[in-house]
Amino acid sequence: MPKTPKYKHYIWELPVRCSHWINVLSITILAITGFFIGSPYNSGGSASDFSMGWIRFVHFTAAYVFVVSVASRVIWSLMGNKYASWREFFPFLTSTGRKKMVKMLRYYMFLEKKVPETYGHNPMATTAYIVLFGLYVMMILTGFALYAQHAPGGLMYKSLGFMYMLFSSQGMRLAHHLGLWVIAGFIINHVYSAVLMDIKEHDGEISSIFSGFKYRINKPE
Ligand code: HEM
Ligand code: HEM
Repeated sequence: MPKTPKYKHYIWELPVRCSHWINVLSITILAITGFFIGSPYNSGGSASDFSMGWIRFVHFTAAYVFVVSVASRVIWSLMGNKYASWREFFPFLTSTGRKKMVKMLRYYMFLEKKVPETYGHNPMATTAYIVLFGLYVMMILTGFALYAQHAPGGLMYKSLGFMYMLFSSQGMRLAHHLGLWVIAGFIINHVYSAVLMDIKEHDGEISSIFSGFKYRINKPE
């Protein structure tokens, strides 16, 4: 019989939850519209058919929302509580963090039966999030570099000059396209892990990303 968690603690502050759900919404829109940009269902057969143009417009609007949300979360990692801090995303830098990672890895590898109780982020999850953040940066840079080509010589084009020096347009397009599928792979694993931890830890994992609160059996340190 699992023990009933006794302690309730506020973990995810409002900016963390807002940026999470704004990212989910914008990535969903970017992925669906991006899919159609990559495989257009028509090429604007008549002057009145602007449907692909609208799809591109929605993609670019969601892209701006996504950038603002990601940037807000980066700023909050310098201002928020300890669970939101940038330090959480580098657990491998401290010996305590490394110990927590090994414990969690042992559980994932079926070497440990009991799931380690985590309060803030799961240290294995934050390692995946830092890779995800790298993907966000790649998608934003390649996306805006491709987008800015509509106005060569403009401010955005000039600011992203280093991208055109380093990569070809087709290379950026390929990386941008592949990014969609890597992010899709992350989402499958992420939602599975969230459900798994919710069931195994009895800590209200999934509801925590809506309410901000998690539950715990042992007294918080
Ligand atoms: C998670 C975020 C994103 C996803 C999943 C995504 C997905 C995609 C996909 C799959 C394509 C089609 C690529 C191809 O096969 O040619 C595409 C095209 C495009 N995306 Fe994104 N995108 C994201 C973010 C962005 C951002 C932040 C921008 C910035 C404005 C952007 C701008 C563009 C542009 C300009 C194209 C058209 C490229 C071309 O000219 O062929 N995307 N996107
Ligand atoms: C586009 C889809 C998604 C992406 C890219 C994503 C990404 C992330 C990221 C980066 C975090 C860390 C939050 C932070 O510190 O800022 C996070 C946390 C979390 N997400 Fe998602 N998420 C997605 C969808 C979902 C969905 C659909 C659920 C619910 C089933 C969910 C449940 C959670 C939970 C419970 C946490 C907090 C747990 C923890 O990180 O230890 N996510 N997610």
